[in-house]
Amino acid sequence: MQKPYTIMLVAVSLDGKISPRRRPGEVNPIGPPLIDPNIMQLHNSQRARVDAVMVGLNCILLDDSRLTLHGAQGKNPARVVLDGLAEMPLTAKVLNDEASTIVAVSADAPPHRVHALSARGANIVVSGRGKFVDLPRLLRQLRQEYKIHRLLVEGGGTVHRSMLARNLYDEIQLIMCPFIIGGSTSITPVERRPFSIDRGIPHYRLENVEVLGDYMYVVYKPRVPAGIVE
Ligand SMILES: NC(=O)c1ccc[n+]([C@@H]2O[C@H](COP(=O)([O-])OP(=O)(O)OC[C@H]3O[C@@H](n4cnc5c(N)ncnc54)[C@H](OP(=O)(O)O)[C@@H]3O)[C@@H](O)[C@H]2O)c1
Repeated sequence: MQKPYTIMLVAVSLDGKISPRRRPGEVNPIGPPLIDPNIMQLHNSQRARVDAVMVGLNCILLDDSRLTLHGAQGKNPARVVLDGLAEMPLTAKVLNDEASTIVAVSADAPPHRVHALSARGANIVVSGRGKFVDLPRLLRQLRQEYKIHRLLVEGGGTVHRSMLARNLYDEIQLIMCPFIIGGSTSITPVERRPFSIDRGIPHYRLENVEVLGDYMYVVYKPRVPAGIVE
């Protein structure tokens, strides 16, 4: 096996948003402010079932998430942050000592920033060049060097776009929430360029649906099995 079994997890409003466009520190309503506590618990319990949770830098800059278990029993998973140019603030809560943290940077990250993150206790993985880390290579490193067998990717929309483009998700878990966020600038589960029929539209089959009051918990699996294409 070249990569961890990798799960995309997203809580989405009825109108297909994962967050309004926000400034750092402004609360995302698609979370504890609006989501039923039992559903939040279900969301958090997914973290207890994996070896690591991965997010993009914007999730850290906007939400300053700790990515630990809240109310779920078990051991905190490792945390992986995609931060091509090592821009994460040294005060980010994800660097605390509640769990180990891997910061994935590219070979173009400034050495003094990489050193500073390392001095804060982060494990540094170098993968690819430029702002975006090389995801297939990173997943291979996570599996081989860090023994991560199950990986949960919580977002945001930019990271999901990169992961889906390389068919790296073995499973998509969607929590459909009974509220409308609206806004043409709001963030959707998959950002940046659309997929096209010419170049291939990622296609999934329905695996499971659970109705939980006004919420739906939906699991899809890819029609073409996920994997790293050499
Ligand atoms: N409702 C939910 O389930 C849910 C879950 C998680 C997050 N969210 C929301 O999603 C929003 C953040 O999403 P976002 O799309 O703005 O950003 P994001 O996906 O969190 O982060 C994207 C950033 O990660 C870095 N990155 C490094 N390598 C990458 C790669 N290979 N592919 C993609 N990104 C890479 C880049 O930083 P640089 O460009 O700076 O190098 C990129 O701009 C927040 O509002 C958060 O609250 C919602």
